[in-house]
Amino acid sequence: MTDAKAPTATADANPGFTPRVFSGIQPSGGLTLGNYLGAIKRFVEMQGQGVETIYCMVDMHAITVWQDPEALRRQTRELAAGYLAAGLDPTKSILFNQSQVSAHAELGWIFNCVARMGWMNRMTQWKDKTSGKDAEKASLGLFAYPSLMAADILVYHATHVPVGEDQKQHVELTRDIAAKFNHDFKVDFFPMTNPVIEGAATRVMSLRDGTKKMSKSDPSDAARINLTDDADAISKKIKKAKTDAEPLPESFEALADRPEAKNLVNIYAALAGMTKEAVLADFAGQGFGAFKPKLADLAVASLAPISTEMSRLMQDPAEIDRILGQGADKADAIARPILEKTYDIVGMIRSRR
Ligand code: AMP
Ligand code: TRP
Repeated sequence: MTDAKAPTATADANPGFTPRVFSGIQPSGGLTLGNYLGAIKRFVEMQGQGVETIYCMVDMHAITVWQDPEALRRQTRELAAGYLAAGLDPTKSILFNQSQVSAHAELGWIFNCVARMGWMNRMTQWKDKTSGKDAEKASLGLFAYPSLMAADILVYHATHVPVGEDQKQHVELTRDIAAKFNHDFKVDFFPMTNPVIEGAATRVMSLRDGTKKMSKSDPSDAARINLTDDADAISKKIKKAKTDAEPLPESFEALADRPEAKNLVNIYAALAGMTKEAVLADFAGQGFGAFKPKLADLAVASLAPISTEMSRLMQDPAEIDRILGQGADKADAIARPILEKTYDIVGMIRSRR
């Protein structure tokens, strides 16, 4: 399967289904530059293009691993503040937290009965998180998580899902679940959703190890840039990022065996909205002593305003909750009829409606 281009109102990979964008992020810790470039920046670009955009804070996914209740509440509001500060607009996109729209959990259960254990066992994220004896201690929810993710997407009949590279396999599983449901019940009810994995930085790597993904759960804070970092912290982390002693080459292929260098060039390209080739054309022959301060300035100019706006928004949690509540009402109005139709297809009596 090739990755889909962003939808337009006319180009639709699923004839008969209105193009619709859905994506989600877990409120399980602070946002990183990886989340921003791999996901949120793309969410903003897809907004207001004539296609409905629905962006969720997936709090029910977050509790597949332990979350302190107060921390979860704070992180959900912080994620909402991050969405808003990065440019998502509640009058243009539907913004809400997952647990307020119970249709996700209800369709998730139906999909638990469609998806097969073997499919879940093959998910690389599950295998990575539960290598060896850890599997015995993982929650049942963590194992079933991709089935809930399929429900998040399909309860809106979403056709396009902007995500980072690491989520591609889960979106492919969503298609498998949709296809099996359609086949088992002899319907053409759920669309074949496309992952939208585009941009210079669909996989932002750790600043300390270019072979590892930049992650909010990395024990080293120096490995990531947090969206809440101030200008000074952003600049210091970039200047201390691991690199090598070679100057930058002319072609991107020449960076194949230099993961840290490649990562910084990717980050530069994504932040500047340039191609990697154009970045190298500007910097070929220069070393990191010259490149890093430029990258630091660019990162500060792009990210510091987001962090300032996030802190401002966090001072009014009631306003954030109000936005999430209104978003949930709008989301529910789309999801409920699709869920009711699903219950009907499955053979459930729904006499209270
Ligand atoms: P998560 O923080 O795991 O809930 O991820 C939320 C979104 O950010 C997903 O679309 C991920 O694919 C994306 N994402 C997370 N980390 C990275 C990264 N290091 N590079 C690119 N995208 C990322
Ligand atoms: N699994 C995603 C992640 O960890 C988060 C997620 C949950 C999601 N449901 C989704 C992403 C639906 C896109 C669409 O990053």
